[in-house]
Amino acid sequence: MRILVTGASGLLGLNLSLLVYTMHEIIGVDRSQLGAVPFRLVNADLLDPGAVDRVLGMIRPEAVIHCAALANLEACEENPAEAERLNADLPGELAASCARNGIRLVHLSTDSVFDGTKNGIYTEADLPNPPGVYSATKLKGEQNVLSAYPEAIVARVNFFGWSLGGKRSLSEFFYNHLSAGEACNGFTDIWFCPLFVGDLAEILVQMLEKCLSGLYHVVGSEALTKYDFGLRIARQFGFEESLIHPISVEASNLTARRSHNLRLSVHKLSTDLALDIPGVSTGIAKFYTQFVQGYPQKMRSYQQIS
Ligand SMILES: NC(=O)c1ccc[n+]([C@@H]2O[C@H](COP(=O)([O-])OP(=O)(O)OC[C@H]3O[C@@H](n4cnc5c(N)ncnc54)[C@H](OP(=O)(O)O)[C@@H]3O)[C@@H](O)[C@H]2O)c1
Repeated sequence: MRILVTGASGLLGLNLSLLVYTMHEIIGVDRSQLGAVPFRLVNADLLDPGAVDRVLGMIRPEAVIHCAALANLEACEENPAEAERLNADLPGELAASCARNGIRLVHLSTDSVFDGTKNGIYTEADLPNPPGVYSATKLKGEQNVLSAYPEAIVARVNFFGWSLGGKRSLSEFFYNHLSAGEACNGFTDIWFCPLFVGDLAEILVQMLEKCLSGLYHVVGSEALTKYDFGLRIARQFGFEESLIHPISVEASNLTARRSHNLRLSVHKLSTDLALDIPGVSTGIAKFYTQFVQGYPQKMRSYQQIS
């Protein structure tokens, strides 16, 4: 398949492109962040008028994996208009264009469309109630995609891994602090289901290969708190666990509201793919193996030198 990956410099886009380019033809959409990557790039700001149709017309992909977004919750609170354009309007425009041209589409959404008040695990049938600008614009993005192109895949995700700049993921947050011997906070009252980015990338491609469509929860099969996630990272790397201070998210100085319960069911995904979805332990082990193999340095080497 010829697959166009938007957000190719981002945490998911770059990991996915590096993992998949030997199996499928990958063309990444980039805004001059990347250099010397082993897959093809096309330079575009997707918010420029006509950019979506121009890129699709030039590349003629069979599928698009749409990872580009304004994914920083605080940045979304500060720039709601930009969040609306990137997270809500652009996916709708892209979906309409893909539908017109018969191009398969995987659109990335988020676990945080839920307000976290459910006493239990969220399924795809549960009604979202986004708590902030990021999640509200991402929910609109989902709705715009599925109304323009019901055959598209909308994947609600949460993932971790190594990124281009080394600061994008929660796993890197803990690694960066703990490896420097610095104290940091871990939230004891946010439950989530993180999936290793390599596992996520493989699953997204399998969803395309199996021609799935519609809304899916694509997270890890195991729920834990962000504090426990930090402890697991500390244990895997042999760092001092007591550097992580257990606190409530309400005691943090983060401006965007966070949901306390982001436990999502992967039953639909697991059934439709006939696949056991990995939990967090195997994911952290893979994250550590990449570290041992020098993957973080390799990621940095793909940064364009200006
Ligand atoms: N990280 C998570 O755990 C998580 C959780 C839930 C959902 N998600 C969703 O998963 C997807 C991928 O997230 P991520 O963490 O990989 O995001 P990320 O690391 O923040 O990357 C965002 C990407 O979007 C690109 N982009 C932003 N504005 C653009 C524009 N106008 N034109 C072209 N490209 C643009 C960025 O390019 P530049 O480098 O040039 O800025 C970057 O490559 C997003 O839809 C996000 O909402 C992520």
